[in-house]
Amino acid sequence: SADAVKQLNGLAPLVLAHRGTTGYLPEHTLGGYELAVKMGADYIEPDLQLTKDGVLVAMHDDTLTRTTNVQQLFPGRSNYAVSEFTLAEVKSLTVKPVGTASTSYPGFTPVSADPFKIPTFQEVIDLAKSQSALVGREVGIYPEAKQADPVMEDKILQTLIANGYTGADKVFIQSFSIDTIKSIADKQKALGLDFDLVVLSSSSNALVTYGLANIAQFADGVGVSITGAGIGEAFIDLAHAAGLLVHGYTFNRQGTLADPEYQRFFNWGMDGVFSNYTDLAVAARNAF
Ligand code: G3P
Ligand code: CA
Repeated sequence: SADAVKQLNGLAPLVLAHRGTTGYLPEHTLGGYELAVKMGADYIEPDLQLTKDGVLVAMHDDTLTRTTNVQQLFPGRSNYAVSEFTLAEVKSLTVKPVGTASTSYPGFTPVSADPFKIPTFQEVIDLAKSQSALVGREVGIYPEAKQADPVMEDKILQTLIANGYTGADKVFIQSFSIDTIKSIADKQKALGLDFDLVVLSSSSNALVTYGLANIAQFADGVGVSITGAGIGEAFIDLAHAAGLLVHGYTFNRQGTLADPEYQRFFNWGMDGVFSNYTDLAVAARNAF
């Protein structure tokens, strides 16, 4: 890296395991998260949805169809929304490999005998804590509120509190909803908590239009699409000038020596990268 890195904290960029190790194993599963930690992820990312009986589970989509065998196990249901299934029903499903993912990874034996079920948020936290003890460093968590729902906000905060997190730990809370992040900021202040909050957007330009200084009133960073409008060194400079970290999504196979995509963003000062290929992101970061 250059002698003076442009990252806001002067630290090397963070590797954020996007939904697990999504390029290799079924997304949002304990097996996927465990492999991400073994590959050196700094944080594991669960997107969060609520079941019918009000339990936070790690899942990207509003519906269960793309990533699970729900249609085989529950044929004839008219609605496959996560919110229409109880936790017990959700737990009966298996997460399928999608895209370049598979059901195994060479040399990796998951600690769980059944590693590709849909985990609860609590189980993701348990894995982060048990893996932290195993690897001798704190594995961070980066939960995303997928619904702009005050009940979800409360459950995320209460789950973090129940697990001893205060904000002095490696926790980021993220949402595409600015109102959700604002609301969490207010709630956590009232509770004496100080989690790092991140506003997501597919468009860096939209965040500039909203006002980066305004966002910095209630958030610690922004998470932006690396292919979206306005992403570049100038945007990262502006965000840093407002005191905001910049994390980028979603990195894939870039980071190989033949395609030094990660380095371009690192050189611009990007503070963290959501990657589907934790090993490639870690290699790129270590080469920075
Ligand atoms: O949360 C950052 C990134 O994961 C946003 O995209 O759709 O994968 O949640 P998505
Ligand atoms: Ca996400």
